[in-house]
Amino acid sequence: MSSNDPLFQPYQLASGLELPHRIVMAPLTRSRATDDGMPTDVMRPYYAQRASAALIISEGIVVSPQGAAYRGVPGLFIPEQVREWKKITDEVHRNGGRIVAQLWHVGRQSHSSVQPDGLPPWAPSPIPIVGYEYYRKPVRHQFEVPRELTQEKISEIIRDYVLAAKNAIAAGFDGVELHGANAYLIDQFLNAGSNNRTDRYGGTIENRSRFLEEVVESIGIEIGINRVGVRLSPSSNWMDSYDPNRSELYHHVVTRLNEMQLAFLHLVEPGVAGSRTVEETENQVSNAALAGLFDRTVIRTGNLTPHKAREILQYESADLVGFGRGFISNPDLPERIKTGEPLAEARKEGMYQGGAEGYITYPTIEDENRWKAFLKNTEGDTELILTHIERLKKRGTADLALSGQLYDLRQAERLLAAAAEGEWSL
Ligand code: PHB
Repeated sequence: MSSNDPLFQPYQLASGLELPHRIVMAPLTRSRATDDGMPTDVMRPYYAQRASAALIISEGIVVSPQGAAYRGVPGLFIPEQVREWKKITDEVHRNGGRIVAQLWHVGRQSHSSVQPDGLPPWAPSPIPIVGYEYYRKPVRHQFEVPRELTQEKISEIIRDYVLAAKNAIAAGFDGVELHGANAYLIDQFLNAGSNNRTDRYGGTIENRSRFLEEVVESIGIEIGINRVGVRLSPSSNWMDSYDPNRSELYHHVVTRLNEMQLAFLHLVEPGVAGSRTVEETENQVSNAALAGLFDRTVIRTGNLTPHKAREILQYESADLVGFGRGFISNPDLPERIKTGEPLAEARKEGMYQGGAEGYITYPTIEDENRWKAFLKNTEGDTELILTHIERLKKRGTADLALSGQLYDLRQAERLLAAAAEGEWSL
């Protein structure tokens, strides 16, 4: 592709952040945190390896223990989590990348078995999710009738969002994205199927979008609206998300977010159900039409090919395009798209199970070439290489002990080069 490839034009976000191209890494649940929401060391190389994305949107990060549902999901509600996230964002920035934190509260998708008080989860209305099950390895449960949020509880959750947003900035993130998609708490307020409240948060479309607007506004006051984005899935009925008039609903929501001068709007394309591809549903809302209502940055994500992504950028009011699954198995996805290198397929193993395998062990094209050269230089003497790595680990250098083999070798190679420069001795 020529230098006027729409995917490889620079772009500036409202915050002033300069993006070198248009390919965003979409948020991906990868379940590598501890069960009490602490980011772990293996997450550092994972995000750092993907720093060539125009922008990384983090996996969903819960704003409170009450907002959580699944194993291995990180949080941003205590100082220890801020400290661990800071190490990750520092590494991304050192590698030349940019990263925003996706703030998440799952609402009625949680379960009493993981709620801090052991009672059913909180949601706009006492309406359970029907047609799906709550799954937390290794058990499945029926979704419960959630507890209806009181005004006091709503205010508390807004405060949780604000604290998490402030924590995100303290942790070095370049901004935040509110997870308003996929039938989680914000989506539960927006859609009539999960919200039959009769107070100022329910009933009319204006009322149902109030919770989102209050979260956006409160966070904007604290960290600046130029650093706040929202993700919506206007066409998804996954997890029982339902509204009889989606088009009118989302036109209103996007119009309001535009008036509030939100920094970016992130739209999930039709044909995506949570993390999976499905048949496109009836009752779809045109993302192109919604994008046309929004003056600032629009990101569109979901089942895109490079070809489709270019079309969206050229003809359908999008500024940036997101790839999720492509980034799992191709840490250097932008480079591969640019050069037309083949894309690696993601393996099911390692998707959510934890550990380094299937997480930080997908090589870049450069890794593969270096790996070959490295082996060649050592004449394939893997024992020699492993001995070096063992020595490096003993010295407690970097994160070698916690990283996958390819990452070890890449680090090892870097360190070996430093040793050759006389910066330290093996
Ligand atoms: C998932 O963990 O599968 C997941 C999380 C957040 C989403 C969708 C899917 O928005």
